[in-house]
Amino acid sequence: MLLTGIGVLATNDPQLGPGLLGEIHDAAVAVEAGWVVWVGREADAPQGVDGERIDVAGRCVVPGFVDAHTHLVFAGDRATEFEARMAGTPYQAGGIRTTVSATRAATTAQLAQGASRLAAEALRGGTTTLETKSGYGLTVVDERRSLEAAATVAGDDVPAVERTFLGAHVVPAEHTIDDYVALVCGEMMQACAPLAAWCDVFCEDGAFGEDEARAVLRAGAAHGLGARIHANQLGHGPGAQLAAEVGAASADHLTFLSDADVAALVDGGVVATLLPAAEFCTRSAPAPARRLLSAGVVVALASDCNPGTSYTTSMPFVVALACQRYGLTAAEAVHAATAGGAAALRRADVGHLAVGAAADLVVIDAPTPVHLAYRPGVQLVATVVRGGRVAWRSAA
Ligand code: NIG
Ligand code: FE
Repeated sequence: MLLTGIGVLATNDPQLGPGLLGEIHDAAVAVEAGWVVWVGREADAPQGVDGERIDVAGRCVVPGFVDAHTHLVFAGDRATEFEARMAGTPYQAGGIRTTVSATRAATTAQLAQGASRLAAEALRGGTTTLETKSGYGLTVVDERRSLEAAATVAGDDVPAVERTFLGAHVVPAEHTIDDYVALVCGEMMQACAPLAAWCDVFCEDGAFGEDEARAVLRAGAAHGLGARIHANQLGHGPGAQLAAEVGAASADHLTFLSDADVAALVDGGVVATLLPAAEFCTRSAPAPARRLLSAGVVVALASDCNPGTSYTTSMPFVVALACQRYGLTAAEAVHAATAGGAAALRRADVGHLAVGAAADLVVIDAPTPVHLAYRPGVQLVATVVRGGRVAWRSAA
């Protein structure tokens, strides 16, 4: 495939062009067998590329979004809770249990269908890789079923999926915290680890404390799972520093951070995955994105799609929010939503467009990536290419 007529190509590769996005003007991209084999100015494009030629008529192209934090496997919704929140009731971690009841009552096929529907929606918003979690089952059988459902999310019309075991999302009503942590670290881990690459824990008042979170992430590591953590979402807590201690790939949310937390993230090389849509939908303060960037932390942006705090799959919306709420430039936000997400998943093959990268890209119906933030709420995604194939094209 040869993509031509690209007004601005964001490569995220500083060797290929100027600015944070490594921009090339009047660019072309050649793709073979799912991989980028050439990028540069169209005038220099290789001749005789076989296959499909797509002229994007001056539109801009960005790498496919890498959404490194979602919860797509659940049943039911929480519109009633959202409505109460809009009337002033604050968000509490315990709301998760409402979704747990609905999820346990659903069949695995229903869970798979719901997750696939949201994943397809994410792809139409330009997401080509996403991470998704269990965490609404909270029994051995239901956590395992949740990961089985996530494993069915595959095919040309959905992003590539990485799976995370989040048995330690909240303590279910039938357990004490100690016996539940023992279950998560023992039998549940045994059943779930083979279906996941990552282990996550919600380290927060009302969920799991420092010692419990450490135990869960260590048990995950013993089963070969990389660590990620929900940390410092609802208040100051130990999660960010614990992420550094256990060598987590990413600490997520990070709405409330002390200077010591920021320093620990720097020292630990932990990616900060910020979730501005969760803050927006819970009317929370914004995470200190500028402080993190200034300190040298790699920042990722993700949707956190889940029925409680952030029922959106839209990475363009997340980019727009990050500009408004975090004071990022559009380039910083797009970079964090692509290269940042890839770093949060420790992936070198996605999140950028250079020779050897996966041919995952989004044609935006606008002249520059700035329009993603400049035209909030507008469907600007024109074409999504995943693995070198057109996965979705807008009818317009
Ligand atoms: O990332 N914080 C914990 N987990 C989700 C919310 C889950 C829910 O309320 O259902 C989050 O915001
Ligand atoms: Fe989350």
